[in-house]
Amino acid sequence: MKDQIVQALSHSTGLTQAQLSEILIEPKELRYGDFSFPCYVLAKQWGIAPPECAKKLEQMLKPPPQVERSEAAGPYLNFFLKRAPQVERVIKEILTRREAIGSEQNSEHTIIIEYSSPNIAKPFHVGHLRTTVIGHALDRIYRHLGYRVISINHLGDWGTQFGFVWVGCELWGRPQNATVFDLVAYYTKAANLRKAQEKGEVPPEDAKYPDVNQMAREYFRKLEAGEKTAVDFWQWCLNISLDYLRNLYKRLGIHFDFYTGESFYRDQLKKTEQELRESGILEESRGAWGVNLGDKLGYVRLFTEDGRSLYITRDITAADYRYRTFNPLKILYVVGAPQKLHFQQLIGILKKMKHPAAERIVHVAYGNVPHVSTRTSSGAAERIWLHTLLEEAHERALHAYRHQVEKRPENLDEQAVAEAVGLGAIFFNYLSRSNVKEFNFTWEEALNFQGDTGPYVQYALARINSIQAKAANEGLPQPSAEINAELLTDDNAYSIVSLLSRFHATIRRAAEEYEPYHIALYVLELARTFSAAYKSLRVVGQEPELAKARLALFTAVKYVLQRGLNLIGVPPVERM
Ligand code: ARG
Repeated sequence: MKDQIVQALSHSTGLTQAQLSEILIEPKELRYGDFSFPCYVLAKQWGIAPPECAKKLEQMLKPPPQVERSEAAGPYLNFFLKRAPQVERVIKEILTRREAIGSEQNSEHTIIIEYSSPNIAKPFHVGHLRTTVIGHALDRIYRHLGYRVISINHLGDWGTQFGFVWVGCELWGRPQNATVFDLVAYYTKAANLRKAQEKGEVPPEDAKYPDVNQMAREYFRKLEAGEKTAVDFWQWCLNISLDYLRNLYKRLGIHFDFYTGESFYRDQLKKTEQELRESGILEESRGAWGVNLGDKLGYVRLFTEDGRSLYITRDITAADYRYRTFNPLKILYVVGAPQKLHFQQLIGILKKMKHPAAERIVHVAYGNVPHVSTRTSSGAAERIWLHTLLEEAHERALHAYRHQVEKRPENLDEQAVAEAVGLGAIFFNYLSRSNVKEFNFTWEEALNFQGDTGPYVQYALARINSIQAKAANEGLPQPSAEINAELLTDDNAYSIVSLLSRFHATIRRAAEEYEPYHIALYVLELARTFSAAYKSLRVVGQEPELAKARLALFTAVKYVLQRGLNLIGVPPVERM
């Protein structure tokens, strides 16, 4: 519909359709119409005041047939659609496409989404939650838009950190049936010892230990050289960590196409080194080798004095590999804002190498979540294991559900509800603001059934299910799109239809801006509008035609909410 209005506007104003698409807005309130054109840009061109421009345009414009009237209001020209045909179009489309609503076909394009990427042998802490949640949402959004999506977990599974675990095992013995917690305990203990050694503050009882940093580096050097004992040890750590991680992701409903971490590129590092050398951009500095990117981005070290590769070296190799293997339209890196310089340097080096991957990389940066309050530990996200947060989410969700929801259905698996609500609370809260904004996570905000939360939207969905079930009990026919659309043109019903018609554009916007929060806010608004309206839109006990029309409307809301929640990773709840 927007396109037709844009065309008509373009015809009368001479502005391009692309320009107009940007300018034309979809007002939140029905009284401003379905579409509204702010006249500022045009008024400037015409050299008149915006309200005057709006009036003039109103007279000149020949609106498309779908528009009932266009009306100048101050500096705006508002367009009101003919409601019944609009209702019919929207409901029909959703009820036929169902959960495919808003999808597209773009399978000729590949989008690589790299996200989560925790560092192995260190705890998977809440600090990695935001990349996990944002990346996962982008993954689902792009898949829904029909792109060929490749999701990659770029595990931090290569580097000196394994050296510290190695040191731990050497000094204190390898634990039997080790778990990831043992690995982390050793990592922490050895890293602390190293810190003490560096500061010269080693307690007397630890004075007997050798130089930890030296040992760790030596281990990593052997690992890179492919020495068997070093590689076996690393593999042992990796397997233990992956077990833990896969369980966590499963619980979160997350699947990766590839767990190709930093280690995956180790055999290709030689090739990268060779290409760098041949391109002539490698410069020596105090025995190390790197690339000079000038004043702003600085000198970037790629190979240490003792020949080890670095984090960024492996990223160059990974970018090259991804480009050659998948020919992606884009490679999205969902990584915290503190690594902004890292990605600028990565792109800078690739550009210097004249590597085409440079043009495909997008750093989807996100802001820190400085404070997460949990029962066991309150404070820095880096101190909280993800699985403890999930345990707590479940417990708290169960409690909140039992205390905040009065009418609970009988014979309900409340544990299943608690799991879905707990995850929903976290995912939704983490996605309810723009990526770069920092925020603190609190349960009070995330888990309120009345608030701007996942559980609120899940609850709206469950309510629609119960309306449908009641209708079926009363012998009403199954929802269908064959309705009398006139019956849904009152403001209450039409405000819902109007929102429904914007779903696809919202998904598009979320994808284009890499901002899943647009979808979170959208489903919230839809749930709110539905909840405000449904009491005056009763189904049971109405004239059959009216009941049928409203049931179709609610069913459409259900498909959109379901799909919307799915796109942001929030699990659906059938009944609650
Ligand atoms: N493992 C890194 C970290 O935890 C994130 C990896 C980001 N991705 C990349 N290609 N560098 O900080």
